[in-house]
Amino acid sequence: MAVIDIAKTKANVPTRGFFDIELNPTLDIFAEIERLKRKKNAVVLAHYYQEPDIQDVADYIGDSLGLAQAAQNTNADVIVFAGVHFMAETAKILNPTKTVLLPDLHAGCSLSDSAPPALFARWKADKYPNHTVVTYINCSAGMKANSDIICTSSNAKAIIDSLPANEPIIFAPDKNLGAWLNKQTGRNMVLWNGACMVHEIFSLEKITKLKQRHPDALLISHPECEDPVLQVSDFVGSTTQLLNYAIKSPAQSFIVATESGILHQMQKDAPHKTFIPAPPNNTCACNECPHMKLNTLEKLYLCLEYGTPEITMTEELRLAALKPMQRMMDISKAAGLLK
Ligand code: 13P
Ligand code: SF4
Repeated sequence: MAVIDIAKTKANVPTRGFFDIELNPTLDIFAEIERLKRKKNAVVLAHYYQEPDIQDVADYIGDSLGLAQAAQNTNADVIVFAGVHFMAETAKILNPTKTVLLPDLHAGCSLSDSAPPALFARWKADKYPNHTVVTYINCSAGMKANSDIICTSSNAKAIIDSLPANEPIIFAPDKNLGAWLNKQTGRNMVLWNGACMVHEIFSLEKITKLKQRHPDALLISHPECEDPVLQVSDFVGSTTQLLNYAIKSPAQSFIVATESGILHQMQKDAPHKTFIPAPPNNTCACNECPHMKLNTLEKLYLCLEYGTPEITMTEELRLAALKPMQRMMDISKAAGLLK
């Protein structure tokens, strides 16, 4: 496995000053975005954690696996990725000839940051040289290049089940998803000590009180949440799986333990149901991802208009990161998780 210097790939990060441009307040940004999409043959891919206006202008909204496949299948020349840096980077890994734009290049991810590629590579070489590395897609291209197979929250179990039962595995970077998978698969994978700042903040105590006030509500949670929350959950899944479960379930109300952006689609797709954001253990009672929310509709418009900030990386890094991504896509297709 090659260890690649991720710093090289960030060499041409534009300054944020670009976004100090003041927009004409009478500008119809929604209409302008549609015009620019047609003019530039661009597509907007958005994650469910984006603000509602961005979700509403997106051509595709999905979880990480769905977004990766949408990025792979698009005929557009330009992909505007309304999500965080590792997601846009993933689109570029799969689409080297297309222009991939991220409305705010500083939209990072605490979970991705918790696994610096060089540190991880040294730790693995010292302690677990013969382990297979299964890495959650929420990581940098450099970390993907350190991995044998990538997974997302919707295909992680299928990916791990595809490996021989006695194969020693390191799971990185999310220790909560890894612990959940150890339980689901009966394995004892070595876990890297990373976590998502949004999902580890949910308060079991407040959720328990909320459940007492809403006894008919089902608790649905993302597997990045900590074990005590997952243990009392009625359903655990990726964002798309949570959405589909909420739509299909006969239950009428749900406590949702993931980033609150998903509530927009839940409310749109099941308008007569009630969705209550699970309370976090902080005083602002807010479970928004500060990284995801760096993207705004205005920044999305500006990045379409000016064609920047663009995601770039060396071909050496891209090819090294593509290999474990391709393995994930192949296993997911074989398991019927992708068309
Ligand atoms: P999924 O949408 O794949 O479930 O991922 C959630 C997440 O944390 C993205 O940052
Ligand atoms: Fe990263 Fe968590 Fe934000 Fe997802 S919600 S982008 S995992 S910090």
